[in-house]
Formats: sequence, C-alpha cells, structure tokens
Amino acid sequence: MEKTFQFEADQTIDASNKLVFPGGIDPHVHLDMPFMGTYSSDNYETGTRAALFGGTTMVIDFILQTQGKSLYNALNEWKGRSDGNAVGDYSFHMAVTDFNENTKAEIKDMVEKEGITSFKTFMAYKGALMIDDAQMVGLMNEVKACGGMVTTHATNGDMIDFLVAKHKSEGKLSPLYHYISQPEVTEAEASGRFADMADYTGVKGYIVHLTCEGALNHIRDATKRNQKVYAETCIQYLVLDASLYDKGFESAKWVMSPPLREKKDQDTLWAGINQGLVQVVATDHCPFNWEQKKMGENDFSKIPNGHPAIEHRMELLFSEGVVKNKISLNKFVEVSSTNAAKIFGMYPQKGTIGIGSDADIVIFDPNEKHTISVNSHHMNVDYSAYEGWEITGKSKTILLRGNIAVDDNKLLVNKGYGKFIKRNKSILDLK
Ligand code: URP
Ligand code: ZN
Ligand code: ZN
Repeated sequence: MEKTFQFEADQTIDASNKLVFPGGIDPHVHLDMPFMGTYSSDNYETGTRAALFGGTTMVIDFILQTQGKSLYNALNEWKGRSDGNAVGDYSFHMAVTDFNENTKAEIKDMVEKEGITSFKTFMAYKGALMIDDAQMVGLMNEVKACGGMVTTHATNGDMIDFLVAKHKSEGKLSPLYHYISQPEVTEAEASGRFADMADYTGVKGYIVHLTCEGALNHIRDATKRNQKVYAETCIQYLVLDASLYDKGFESAKWVMSPPLREKKDQDTLWAGINQGLVQVVATDHCPFNWEQKKMGENDFSKIPNGHPAIEHRMELLFSEGVVKNKISLNKFVEVSSTNAAKIFGMYPQKGTIGIGSDADIVIFDPNEKHTISVNSHHMNVDYSAYEGWEITGKSKTILLRGNIAVDDNKLLVNKGYGKFIKRNKSILDLK
C-alpha cells in the first residue's frame, strides 16, 4: 500500500512561476589555499557565502598534503581554517602529493573514519604537488582496495615545464605564453595515461577540469572498452575562450591551468555533456586579487593560477546552457548537482529533493535578467572574470538543510552554519 505523509508546514514559500531544483554542488573549489607563494583570496566564510548567493549549497575543497608530511597533518591544517567558518556545507578531497608507505597506511582511515573518499593527484606542478606514475599506480591500488576514487589534474607536467622554460629563455614573458605553454596535447596525453592506469588498476577514476577535444577523445576510448572514467569540466571552459589571452597583462585574470581553449573545444564539451561523457560542471574556483596576480607582471610563470567563479556557475550554466538550448533542464540539474552527489558519495542526502534528503533547495526565477559585476558579486576578489555578462535566470531563495539561507539577495544564516559532510563510497550507476 502506498504510504501518505502529512506535515504541517511552519512556513509556506510561494514558488509560482519559478523553478525549484536541488541545491548546487560544486566539487572543485580552492578556499584559503596556499598556492604559488600566496593564498586564494576567498576563505571558507566568504567562499561558501558567495556560493550560496548563486545557488550552490555545497562545495568540495582540496586538502593539499605537504611533501614529507602525513595526510593527517594536512587534514588538521585544513580543519583549522574551515572549522566553524563555513556558511554553506562542504567536504574535502585529499590531494596526495607524496605517496609512500606512511601515506599508504593512512588511506583506509581517510575513507572509513573521516568520510574523505576521493584522492586527488596532480600530474603537473612538479616540485610541490606532482606525483610520478609509480606513485600514481601505487595510490590507485590502495584506493581501490579501500573502495575510494582517484581524481586527477591531467596535464603532462614535464612537457609544460619544458615549454615554460623555453618561452622564458626567449624572453616571452606575457600571460599569452601561459596559454602557449600548455597546448592541447599536454592535457590529452595525460588524460589518456591516467585512464590507462585507472583501467589497469581497476580503480574508479575522475578527471577534473577537462577542457578539450583531445582529452575527451580519451574518455570516449575508455568508454568503448567499457571502462568508466568520470569527467568534470568547468563553467569557464564552456563559455570563455583563448581569445582572452590577447589583452596584455589584463589576461592574467584568466591565467588558470589548464588554460582556456578554442571555440571547437567548447562545442566538444557541450556535446560531451549531452553524450554523458562529461558528468559534472564545476568551477575550479581559485580567486586571487589583482595585487596577487601582479606577482607575475614580468613573468607569466609567477602569476597565481586560478579565477573566481563560485558564485556564477549555476546562473551562467542556466543562461548559456538551458536558455540557449545547449542542454535540457534535466541535464542542468544532473551536471550542476545530482551527478556530483552520486559520484562523490553524498546521494541521496545531497543532490536531490526527496523525503529524507537534506532539503537543499534553489527557487530560481528563469526569466530575471541581471548583469555580473565586481560591484555586486559577493566573492572576496577585486575584479570579475565575467564583468558585464548579461544573465537570464536568478537564484532567488536558497534553502540549506531546510532553513532559508538566502532570500532575495539577503543572507539569513551565519558563519558556522555550514557543516562538514562525511561522504560514502561512490554510486557507480548514475541513472
Ligand atoms: O589554475 C588553477 N586551476 N588553479 C588551481 C589549482 C588547480 O590546478 O586546480
Ligand atoms: Zn588543477
Ligand atoms: Zn583546481
């Protein structure tokens, strides 16, 4: 017999003429992160607050192991910055930058005690973050044994370092050479290598911030041999392109790794989303103020990599994707929320609206028009990478765990309301 439930509501919200969908999940952000000689400018309070204004109720941040130190050392450092400070909900991926016998022994506890079930690797940024293939395969074996997932920044660090050194020796020092030093092949090669190693070890794999056709072709090949490698792209790779590197030093606003690509790559990524090859649209939010970007005024390799987008992901994806008929409304919900919840082991607590779920809900006006600007955004950064962009669609009322967190551009919850979410193992079937 069908069960019926009857509840008395404390409050009724009028959502007529609005869309109602699950709170957004951005599984790729960097808050208060030590990187390239500075810290990303949004901390847990400002970053998760800005996310909420845009309809993202949960983020997953990256803990970076310091080479020579333990994973627990890094976890404690990140807890020190996040505990009691977040406004929206959050979790962590653990970036393993030094895989050895000691690190190996900590993986099981991360999964089973800490609820950190995904392990990030860097195939670039040699010297601080990059691991080699021997470490990668060792980590994959251990993570598989513990039921977790390995994710990666898939670019060939050695090739990039060679090209950076070459351009610098030729006196080519502007932000344009950041882009020219990371051609498509550097990402395609590493993506294929990662997929092959994941296939060999049998671990669940996920490629972060995938940008281009060459890399997506490797995901397609993996799918053909019946291997599932999840792929995430980021909103900037769908809507911005490499012509922004022709603006002199102003182009530093878009210096990120991998760099923006070509129009043909944007088409490939939209198609990849519709074909189910790209499951997630994140941001890789890693903001730096202009003074920080200027650290690389005379040398592109010293510009802190990253751009601000945590607040705009949902509205940009709706406006550029749904309104312009590139993706359906259902696909929008999948790639902005539900798939991340399933892949990263939070479903059905997060990523859906249903009895027993967290009641993270966005009430969205699909017709409201507004313009992105540094003067109105909530991120702690003194420029906008999307200044003047006209958007159709606005997150109006945002509920987090059943409480109204934002209503008509007013924040109604405080610092400390955001909760750390322990995660389970991934659900493989996204259907
Ligand atoms: O440019 C980027 N992506 N900065 C953040 C670090 C990373 O590689 O994700
Ligand atoms: Zn990266
Ligand atoms: Zn990143």
